[in-house]
Amino acid sequence: MRLIVPLQGVVQGRGGLILGSFIPCTLFYLLQLYLKRNRRPPTHLDPTPSTTDLTRTSSRSSLGPVQVSLRAESIANPNPSAYYVGWSKYLEDPYDRLANPDGIIQLGLSENRLSFDLIEKWMVDNLESVMVGGVGGISRIDEMLLYQPSDGMLEMKKAMANFMSLVMRTTTPFNPSHLVLTSGATAAIEMLSFCLADQGNGLLVPTPYYPGFDRDVIWRAGVELIHVHCCSSDNFSPSIDAFEQAYRNARRHGIKVRGVLISNPSNPVGNILSKEFLYSLLDFAKNKNIHIISDEIYAGSVYGDEEFVSMAEIVGSTDTDKQRVHIVYGISKDLSLPGFRIGVVHSFNETVLTATKRLARFTTVSSPTQRIMISMLSDSSFIEEYMMTNKDRLKKMHQLLVSSLRLSGIKCNESTAGFYCWVDIRHLLGSSSEKGELELWHNLLNVAKINTTPGTSCHCVEPGWFRCCFANLDEGDIPVILDRILRVVNL
Ligand SMILES: Cc1ncc(COP(=O)(O)O)c(C=O)c1O
Repeated sequence: MRLIVPLQGVVQGRGGLILGSFIPCTLFYLLQLYLKRNRRPPTHLDPTPSTTDLTRTSSRSSLGPVQVSLRAESIANPNPSAYYVGWSKYLEDPYDRLANPDGIIQLGLSENRLSFDLIEKWMVDNLESVMVGGVGGISRIDEMLLYQPSDGMLEMKKAMANFMSLVMRTTTPFNPSHLVLTSGATAAIEMLSFCLADQGNGLLVPTPYYPGFDRDVIWRAGVELIHVHCCSSDNFSPSIDAFEQAYRNARRHGIKVRGVLISNPSNPVGNILSKEFLYSLLDFAKNKNIHIISDEIYAGSVYGDEEFVSMAEIVGSTDTDKQRVHIVYGISKDLSLPGFRIGVVHSFNETVLTATKRLARFTTVSSPTQRIMISMLSDSSFIEEYMMTNKDRLKKMHQLLVSSLRLSGIKCNESTAGFYCWVDIRHLLGSSSEKGELELWHNLLNVAKINTTPGTSCHCVEPGWFRCCFANLDEGDIPVILDRILRVVNL
């Protein structure tokens, strides 16, 4: 009002009572409107909101649902990949020979149950003493209850380095100081993508590849996967020419290539990269000055005659070569313990080691889990027997499935390691296309009630190849699978 009265006087002085009242009132109204519009929004620092603020907040329901980040929204979107769709369908109706004989048989998930009996026995015999008693009866409870280094206890790193040297048969043993423990190989791949490439950069990856790479590399690190296509005529082995071509294509599209990501032995094909190829790949990486991430999670699951060679063995003695090679490993496959969530980054690169050690805070393996693993990995007679028996069982089950499928006119790609048959059912496709492949996958899932992974989910360029895990089967399941396949053959 202090503002209006002098103004009213000025206007009245010029004459016109009506005008004199109208103009100040209008100005007052406009001022109120201005103040209302420009009121400072309450901040976190406001000690107590006024009652007006409280009523205003509660009455504002027209703003729609509260927002989340675009990143979260894109991850939360329904995932249309057959890999994930088949998986959730299986969970709704899982096959059990006695309890649910008409349920869905799971050939899409990479679990090894062939040597569960050995693991189970070790657990029954040792778990109690591991958890409550230590060497000489000293309790380890404190160690298990309190914080430990995020990147892994030293004892665990030593045990893991020994195990990796045994499995990969490297001439120079793995050094514990080059290891960072993560909760599963998934976290190791994600961390390395994050540390080696910036958002929008690319990693070259041979196809067909493990469908989880799309999640591990793209979701959080925002790194692109550039496909290096491999064909059935080469047993799906990659060539350096194909790497060169993919590299040039990426550059043409303005993508900076920061590295190569390989799975050796390969998921899904089950083959092993030769020593000669690995040397050429290292030369390729040197020429382009890029990194190599070698995921060797199936290194101890080789059942064929070919020899597995780790990228760690190929790395030259020069420091520059060592800086660019990073190995991913874990116990989810070779020790059949995916539930333990233990993975490893092995790197010679100090910056990568320091960064991954710090990032390991987000993905630390729990202390009780590490304690159990230290004990198991240090039990050398158990480990030796387990590894040998497990390889024999993988070999037997692989041969059984391959020969049974062959009797039904279905061929598999030559494989020598891992948990999969890479099955060629091109002749069963209605049309030789991605659509035809997905129709067949759909029929296998819904009519035959078998969950497989179609090649498209692994970005295979040739339609008609399917990934089938044999390591979670029982011999008795194989005739059931063959019977059920006939349901779609005769459609
Ligand atoms: C090639 C490959 N890398 C990584 C993983 C993920 O392993 P983890 O369960 O230890 O995260 C898998 C699992 O199937 C795999 O096949």
